[in-house]
Amino acid sequence: MKTVKNLKGKDFINLEDFSSDELKGLIKLAIELKKKTKNGKNLDLLKNKNLVMYFSKPSLRTRLSFEIGMAKLGGKSYVIKQDEIILGKRESIEDTARVISKHADAVTIRTFAHSDVEQFAKFSSIPVVNALTDLSHPCQIMADLLTVYETFKTFKGLKLAYIGDGNNVTNSLLTGCASFGIDITAICPNGYEPNGDEILKAKKIAEKTGSKIEITSDPVVGVQGANIVYTDVWASMGQENEAEARKEIFKNYQINNELMKNTAGNSIVLHCLPAHKGQEITEETFELHANSIFNQAENRMYAQMAILASIIK
Ligand code: CP
Ligand code: NVA
Repeated sequence: MKTVKNLKGKDFINLEDFSSDELKGLIKLAIELKKKTKNGKNLDLLKNKNLVMYFSKPSLRTRLSFEIGMAKLGGKSYVIKQDEIILGKRESIEDTARVISKHADAVTIRTFAHSDVEQFAKFSSIPVVNALTDLSHPCQIMADLLTVYETFKTFKGLKLAYIGDGNNVTNSLLTGCASFGIDITAICPNGYEPNGDEILKAKKIAEKTGSKIEITSDPVVGVQGANIVYTDVWASMGQENEAEARKEIFKNYQINNELMKNTAGNSIVLHCLPAHKGQEITEETFELHANSIFNQAENRMYAQMAILASIIK
């Protein structure tokens, strides 16, 4: 089975570090891996390879999908949590990177500061995968794009509307949609828009692919004609003390059946999960679209299997 060319040894930290063709190649490989895995095929692409996963924040999907995905490829994985070592506190990030590089073949990091992952990668001799930072969540977006492709059999002519907090997931959706030529509208309250630099990066990519990038604060206008309507929690991990205040700020930024009437006829709803039903999405709309949402959660594994198989030497 062929993995994506020229990616061996590369970090997977920022989507913009990869060409549209490379990202599309990873989605194609994920589809192949999903088919083979579901047919019970034994895949030994990462036999005898070891993955270390470091988490400063909680995780259900990311941890499970990396661990089980690695096992399905014939490799092993090891989890280190913040209560064992606090990245950069017990010893320097540089030394942690050099030690893990001596033992493992790749490392995933979920933490707060994006710069900590970049710093780790500078000193790591093995590929580093961004498993979510305060700035971005690229692995999530690869699973989302796989789900979009499975649903619509194309990336062309689609519009994604993201509604809610302009957070790490939104930042990565902008770059991901731009790379795949999908139009994207981020609908966020004033002051909660996606990161300015990330918008600029996405716009630069969009100039080549032709995708349209829009930011608005009007939910009804923003979701017009959307094929994919996406949301995420109003308060991300690390913002728990703002959760109450955010309920008021975001109360009009909810996916519900009324809002869905303004979307394209064939539209689906995606949510990276965990969901706070009654806040960013009603229980009713969530359950109507549960098939797409849980297929999206399942696709985390296949998207990451494609990434790991392609970058691990
Ligand atoms: N979507 C996602 O990354 O889920 P976890 O936080 O459970 O890993
Ligand atoms: N924006 C959310 C995503 C969770 C997968 C957070 O960072 O908590």
